[in-house]
Amino acid sequence: MGTIETVGVVGAGTMGHGIAQVAAVSGLEVTLVDVVPEALERGLGQIEKSLGKLVAKEKIAASDAEAARSRVTGGAGLDELGTVDLVIEAVVERLEVKSEIFRQLDAVARPGTILASNTSSISITKLAAATSRPGLVIGMHFMNPVPLMVLVEIIRGLQTDQATYDAVEALTRRLGKTPVEVHDAPGFVSNRVLMPMINEAVFCLHEGVGEAGAIDDVMKLGMNHPMGPLALADLIGLDVCLDILRVLHRELGDPKYRPCPLLVKMVDAGYLGRKSGRGFHVY
Ligand SMILES: NC(=O)c1ccc[n+]([C@@H]2O[C@H](COP(=O)([O-])OP(=O)(O)OC[C@H]3O[C@@H](n4cnc5c(N)ncnc54)[C@H](O)[C@@H]3O)[C@@H](O)[C@H]2O)c1
Repeated sequence: MGTIETVGVVGAGTMGHGIAQVAAVSGLEVTLVDVVPEALERGLGQIEKSLGKLVAKEKIAASDAEAARSRVTGGAGLDELGTVDLVIEAVVERLEVKSEIFRQLDAVARPGTILASNTSSISITKLAAATSRPGLVIGMHFMNPVPLMVLVEIIRGLQTDQATYDAVEALTRRLGKTPVEVHDAPGFVSNRVLMPMINEAVFCLHEGVGEAGAIDDVMKLGMNHPMGPLALADLIGLDVCLDILRVLHRELGDPKYRPCPLLVKMVDAGYLGRKSGRGFHVY
């Protein structure tokens, strides 16, 4: 298996545009696609803005930012990913949506292309089963915000080939990230541990144990967390948190993962966190 030089990213939202940016800064040619044209435009705009900030902070040279920008191309559909070495899928956290994308990617991508998912909780083995190339399917779970966070949880599906793992691990290091290997289980390690904490913080708010600011302050000042769990939920997206908790609850079958009714109500109301301007805090 050769080195990875060209990448397709599916979904230009919170995670997709960050993944595309980091790949382009590392010298890879990137095609970013989204089904919603406005979402693609927004994602490309956010890359521009984020690179501008990095230049202003003197983290990268203006010429490198410009070169990175020119390496990202927007595309309308999956059929534009026929020749890339790797596709990283970063669409909504729903098994049926992701499975359909993996089925379509399998049909359009050339035979050796690795298909990775940035899923937070969904089984890589199940996504692989939607394709005819399960050995080439793997989880690459980036953290938010992608340009700043160093961890990538790399998830082996039951049938992931060692060569696929090795290629993705090498790419992760080239992106300046630190890979940590985990096995395929709902929520992997990151969200198996993080989401119950966030959910419990929402229960504290729901039951009136403390105000949102107080709950966040307790965890920041008392436990040395850089941000409180409710502010973190707002950053992740409350819809994404709810989808992950539903996967944990359904797949592990333990009532301890039941999403707090307040979280469900917030999502029903369209309070999705930072991306909608309001979550547990107002932005
Ligand atoms: N938000 C986080 O903090 C975070 C962290 C790690 C992993 N993740 C995971 O990353 C994935 C994406 O999350 P996000 O927060 O970026 O979501 P998001 O809602 O910000 O973006 C998702 C994007 O996917 C697009 N999309 C939906 N269906 C599509 C399709 N069929 N083809 C192409 N594009 C499509 C949407 O238009 C949207 O722009 C999820 O699996 C999530 O669990 C999220």
